[in-house]
Amino acid sequence: MLKKELDLGYDECNTSSNESFENVLADRLSRRDVMKIGACFIGASLFGSFGAQLNADDSSTSTSVPAAAVLLGFNAVPKSLADTVSVPAGYTSKVIFATGDPIKMGVSTYKNNGTDSRDFENRSGDYHDGMIYFGLKNDNSGYDATNSKNGLLCMNHEYINQNYIHTTAEVAAIDKTARVTAQVDKEIALHGVTIVKVTDSGSGFGIDKSSSYNRRITGDTPIALNGPARGNVLLQTSYSTNGTMTRGTLNNCAVGSTPWGTFLTCEENWSGYFKGDTRTGKEAIAMSRYGIKSTSHFGWESVYPQFSASITGADATADYRNVANTQGYVVEIDPFSPTSTSIKRTAMGRFAHETASLGKLTVGKPVVFYMGDDAKGEYIYKFVSNQNWDAADANGGLSAGNKYLDAGTLYAAKFNADGTGQWLKLAITEPAISTYTTYPFVDAADVAVHTRIAADVVGATKMDRPEWCDVHPTTGEVYMTLTNNSDRGKSGKYGPDAANPRYYTDTCETTATNKGNVNGHIIRWKETGEEGTATTFMWDIYLFGAQSDANGTNINISGLTDDNDFSCPDGLCFSEVTKGLMWIQTDDGAYTDVTNCMMLAAVPGNVGDGAGYSVANTAVPTNGNADQTIATFVGKDATASTLKRFLVGPKNCELTGIAETPDGKTIFVNIQHPGEEGTASTLTSNWPDGGTSRPRSATVVITKNDGGIVGY
Ligand code: FEO
Ligand code: CA
Ligand code: CA
Ligand code: CA
Repeated sequence: MLKKELDLGYDECNTSSNESFENVLADRLSRRDVMKIGACFIGASLFGSFGAQLNADDSSTSTSVPAAAVLLGFNAVPKSLADTVSVPAGYTSKVIFATGDPIKMGVSTYKNNGTDSRDFENRSGDYHDGMIYFGLKNDNSGYDATNSKNGLLCMNHEYINQNYIHTTAEVAAIDKTARVTAQVDKEIALHGVTIVKVTDSGSGFGIDKSSSYNRRITGDTPIALNGPARGNVLLQTSYSTNGTMTRGTLNNCAVGSTPWGTFLTCEENWSGYFKGDTRTGKEAIAMSRYGIKSTSHFGWESVYPQFSASITGADATADYRNVANTQGYVVEIDPFSPTSTSIKRTAMGRFAHETASLGKLTVGKPVVFYMGDDAKGEYIYKFVSNQNWDAADANGGLSAGNKYLDAGTLYAAKFNADGTGQWLKLAITEPAISTYTTYPFVDAADVAVHTRIAADVVGATKMDRPEWCDVHPTTGEVYMTLTNNSDRGKSGKYGPDAANPRYYTDTCETTATNKGNVNGHIIRWKETGEEGTATTFMWDIYLFGAQSDANGTNINISGLTDDNDFSCPDGLCFSEVTKGLMWIQTDDGAYTDVTNCMMLAAVPGNVGDGAGYSVANTAVPTNGNADQTIATFVGKDATASTLKRFLVGPKNCELTGIAETPDGKTIFVNIQHPGEEGTASTLTSNWPDGGTSRPRSATVVITKNDGGIVGY
């Protein structure tokens, strides 16, 4: 979701003074002193303690992990501005499910001209995003983790494009203060989640519209509120006066899945859907920190009061002043129980949730999820369950979710300049939080609902927009994309730090000038003792986005070439089948003069496989900050055998969402918002239907023509 980032809350709401300048300076000075010894020595000594361990791991897993050269055996797909999906020679892509497509029998074919006005609860939503494939038994009676021909595809629909879902005349007449109910109904129903059965009966995957599993969860569906905030006054609305229910899930971006067979959908930039008002005291602080503004993005509140986070009644049970407190969570959905009520898990915190990615799973130990908060200068989080994992709970559905996701410990990450890191506990029992006078927290519910403020208090590190993360299937190391940050290095904002070390001007651009961390990077960390419950870790920067012809001293630091250069990593996902292949997807606005967004295949090494590095941020003469040289840690340079472009999408799209079948022979990829820069009268893309059609987001199925595993 690129074009409207400003509207929906990627903007900084974090005005905390975390990482005080004194601390950063002190850290930098001490790092610089060490750097004098020599970068190679730094890398060796810093990572040496588990370097030996990594070598041992390498030998023990060498038989199960294919060699890198074998894994990326395809020819790189060239950068492209064509209005098509390009995949390597020897691969085929096919569109199976686009915006408006029916998910039930008897629903008419989508006309895609703005006049479709009924049945949107029975059609695909818009802006396809994160996605998980769950194998389904051949008799369709339930979950089968091994079935690669019959499954349920669960996908998010992050957003909408009004230009393409209404008629041109309707779009021209939109008045945010007096919306037309039928148009709002359509817009709300195009948000949320789709669960749809997909089957390959011999000629490739297609949608099975007859399945009783098929359903939509939309911006209006009743959803329960569980965890520490359930029933709290902060969640009371006139819809649920006891604060246990809400309606709708919005701006669903990345995803996760649980070991007990459920789908996790993450509510990202939900704040722009609600119209706020002027508050005082704690409420004013909270609304500002979460970016609730006096106008909403779509004006839905002009039709439905549930989108007006304003005081209009006698108390919280008489209006929707608290409705925004019921958004911003990880939502658990049981795809195999079509009549079940989905549940928002408040124990996992409230922010602009991206992925909820399962950590290394061990019987008898807590279940761990890694999460990011995607806005400028926001934080990385970890949830650790109170309950230890019991394999008897596999297939436990939402009741297992109640056991593991309603009680646990939430942490925010602090990345130190010496390559170490800490998980900082966010709990009312922490003295720094319980004694914070600016925003006096009253209980665990207050911390769960106002996670960002608690993370400010403990001093988490402001990151360059945390997007997706995933856990390496064999090393357990965690990779997270930091897509970009135009605030980094900006006058009046925060400067670079070791974990977010770059700011620069994109001087190669021919159509726009971008500043800050323009092309983004991917950070990774290794938990101490390889334990998900650890409160310390080691980190480095796995990969820096850059165009290949950019300055290699402070921009193209990872040695990218024409075959693997990219900008703004967003989607990220390990293949469970190949045990080491990682997909990277881009949501870019900086390199799009040269190429449409893309997907790359990577074979990463380990934290510490590179060296210490000094980034000289010297090329930003007008941003107001003094030039700063930052010491950091960088993974090994990318090579043709460790990073290769696999796919380039159609015009104005973003690549997002990836799922694989258990045999690895089919992958599903989502193409989001093709033609986003256009309007119905000036189309910039006609993908996927061609001709003069309006563009649509869609799921494509990719297979290897020889029937082999994708990625080799
Ligand atoms: Fe929805 Fe952060 O991308
Ligand atoms: Ca995205
Ligand atoms: Ca550029
Ligand atoms: Ca993005």
